[in-house]
Amino acid sequence: MGGTGFWWTWRVLGSLLLVPGILGWGKEGHYTICKIAEGFLSEEALAAVKELLPASAKGDLAEVCSWPDEIRHSYHWRWSGPLHYVDTPDFKCNYKYCRDCHDSAGHKDRCVTAAIYNYSMQLSSGYHESISESGYNLTEALMFLSHFIGDVHQPLHVGFTGDEGGNTIIVRWYRRKTNLHHVWDNMIIESAVKTYYSKDLAIMIKAIERNITDGWFNVIPSWKICANNQTVCPNEHASESISLACKYAYRNATPGSTLTDDYFLSRLPVVEKRLAQSGVRLAATLNRIFSSQAKQIADA
Ligand SMILES: *[C@@H]1O[C@H](CO)[C@@H](O)[C@H](O)[C@H]1NC(C)=O
Ligand SMILES: *[C@@H]1O[C@H](CO)[C@@H](O)[C@H](O)[C@H]1NC(C)=O
Ligand SMILES: *[C@@H]1O[C@H](CO)[C@@H](O)[C@H](O)[C@H]1NC(C)=O
Ligand SMILES: *[C@@H]1O[C@H](CO)[C@@H](O)[C@H](O)[C@H]1NC(C)=O
Ligand SMILES: [Zn+2]
Repeated sequence: MGGTGFWWTWRVLGSLLLVPGILGWGKEGHYTICKIAEGFLSEEALAAVKELLPASAKGDLAEVCSWPDEIRHSYHWRWSGPLHYVDTPDFKCNYKYCRDCHDSAGHKDRCVTAAIYNYSMQLSSGYHESISESGYNLTEALMFLSHFIGDVHQPLHVGFTGDEGGNTIIVRWYRRKTNLHHVWDNMIIESAVKTYYSKDLAIMIKAIERNITDGWFNVIPSWKICANNQTVCPNEHASESISLACKYAYRNATPGSTLTDDYFLSRLPVVEKRLAQSGVRLAATLNRIFSSQAKQIADA
């Protein structure tokens, strides 16, 4: 990459309009997920998170939840690109770790679900050691984990291989030309904020939080739990995502189609629920990792 390439990349990443299509949930999506999670952290987990956050976060996890997207195109971090998603066989509409978790060159365990296992283990094992002892940078582990738990809930981050999770499906979102992946990362959320939430993301976040403590109250325990008491269960979340991708994201969104109210109004509740689920599950995961009980087990 030449000097101009570097500066171009830097400028694009520095602006709020991130490179369309290739990133995870957009900035708003990741911010929303981490804001929701913050509200459900235990005292212990909140203290541990605050200790690990970089100074730039100013004590707010949500501020750094897009960090993995901001760095992924720089030379030093290019290896992390495949960790944002997992592609599945075209039209199968299911996900299998052994079959699907690899990068485009076929290297095993290079995908979002592997990354969630990786960074949750680093945090669990490093929790009672200093950064230098554990050998991992736990600040990075926290930012990666918080981001990837969001990404695995975005249905098209577990989309088809042939269309790169909707990236190569060119559509119109109302009058604007874009691609299907970008619609699910950004456009649905941006249109909702504009149309229903007075252009204020904080109001949308409050509405989702109200649903969590109100309408969805009964199902929240089932969202938090992982089979066999595991700390994380990204395979389950990836399976949910590809099902939703087939049922909602790909349906009636063929190349060249124009997506308007019909699509927007029927998909928005799916997006809002996925944001809620990621937030609740991120908090549950951090609460498990940073519980004194977990510490006792690790110390034993
Ligand atoms: C695990 O984390 C380390 C440290 O960031 C990184 O080098 C490695 O590529 C990661 N692997 C996966 C699958 O996330
Ligand atoms: C850990 O990672 C953060 C973010 O990349 C970096 O700013 C910090 O210097 C790292 N800490 C150590 C001890 O390497
Ligand atoms: C899960 O953990 C709880 C509390 O530690 C324990 O009571 C329960 O038996 C465990 N369940 C399974 C399936 O391991
Ligand atoms: C709240 O929940 C209802 C019922 O599931 C859903 O229709 C609505 O879109 C949700 N609103 C938000 C902001 O999540
Ligand atoms: Zn991402």
